[in-house]
Amino acid sequence: MALNVGILTSGGDCQSLNATMRGVAKALYTNVKDVKIIGFLDGYKGLMYENYRVMSPSDFSGILTEGGTILGSSRQPFKMMTVPDENGLDKVKAMKSTYNKLKLDCLVVLGGNGSQKTANLLSQEGLNVIGLPKTIDNDLWGTDITFGFESALNVATNAIDCIHTTAASHSRVFIVEVMGHKVGWLTLHAGIAGGADIILLPEIPYDINVVAEAIRQREKQGKLFSILAVAEGAISKETAALSKKERKKKAEQSVYPSIAYEIGADITRLTGQEVRVTVPGHMQRGGSPCPYDRVLSSRLGAYAAGMIMRKEFGALVVSQNDVITHLPLSEIAGKLKVVDPECDIIQQARMIGISFGD
Ligand code: F6P
Repeated sequence: MALNVGILTSGGDCQSLNATMRGVAKALYTNVKDVKIIGFLDGYKGLMYENYRVMSPSDFSGILTEGGTILGSSRQPFKMMTVPDENGLDKVKAMKSTYNKLKLDCLVVLGGNGSQKTANLLSQEGLNVIGLPKTIDNDLWGTDITFGFESALNVATNAIDCIHTTAASHSRVFIVEVMGHKVGWLTLHAGIAGGADIILLPEIPYDINVVAEAIRQREKQGKLFSILAVAEGAISKETAALSKKERKKKAEQSVYPSIAYEIGADITRLTGQEVRVTVPGHMQRGGSPCPYDRVLSSRLGAYAAGMIMRKEFGALVVSQNDVITHLPLSEIAGKLKVVDPECDIIQQARMIGISFGD
């Protein structure tokens, strides 16, 4: 059985992209006699503009522990896929043409939400597509876990741990801003793991007076420092009540570089406490994948190779109850897995005294 397999990494990177591609490649090279893997450079752009490399087994050696992606990545918003490029190129047509020209048997897409929407579009256009669930946000619908999440969680938790000691020494309020514009899984987990006192998520709009009161209560108990884990998409009740247009205007007029600074200024105004803000930012997507991700990526990659061999396409590989399986792309595309404010983990966090500022 001769196979031509295209592969690309799309959207924001994470630590475990290489480990996942290695899983796919090793499983294919081990189990298929005649396989050619074509790596498209910089995500869907490579597929659009025929920018690719014919890979060899050695390309996938020694990359298990390497963060980033050996193929490069780029953000190609789904809504722009049907809009021609600056030279009038029809992007979807171009991607199909590259696929056909290279006589691919399938295309493997490592990506998050937007990327899987495009994967679904290409699948509906008749291409054989398999998706692999990447994102530090862990917000892909249908899978318990995405690769990249645990590694980013280690970085974010480490940032909170480091802040803890200096916050205690100086009796200050510290805010650590964690990645996640729309979804708060990373902040929630890093906040609990790092022992944060207050956790603010996009899914649970906060009342700044409740946040200030939680800090005052700690002071009354003789706890002179407080740690807040704040998602970059945290939102006040006030802002949440605005229309989309009004919110956009408010954000444009804001004098703060990000929400954590605004919350910091509000806390100082309301409590008189000194506040410091730390933003680990893209560090959360960098460095080596953690052991959990290396195992998950190897499993997801191996499973994807099995699907290619069985000619099962049009699906996203997912992990459910620690079993690797797959779901139709059409079922998962465009759906976000958000934090349910009533879910188990939130209730348990509240039980141990964590405030969500609501
Ligand atoms: O989706 C992953 C993510 O890291 C988000 O958590 C974050 O909001 C966003 O990407 C940052 O995107 P960029 O790298 O384009 O600044």
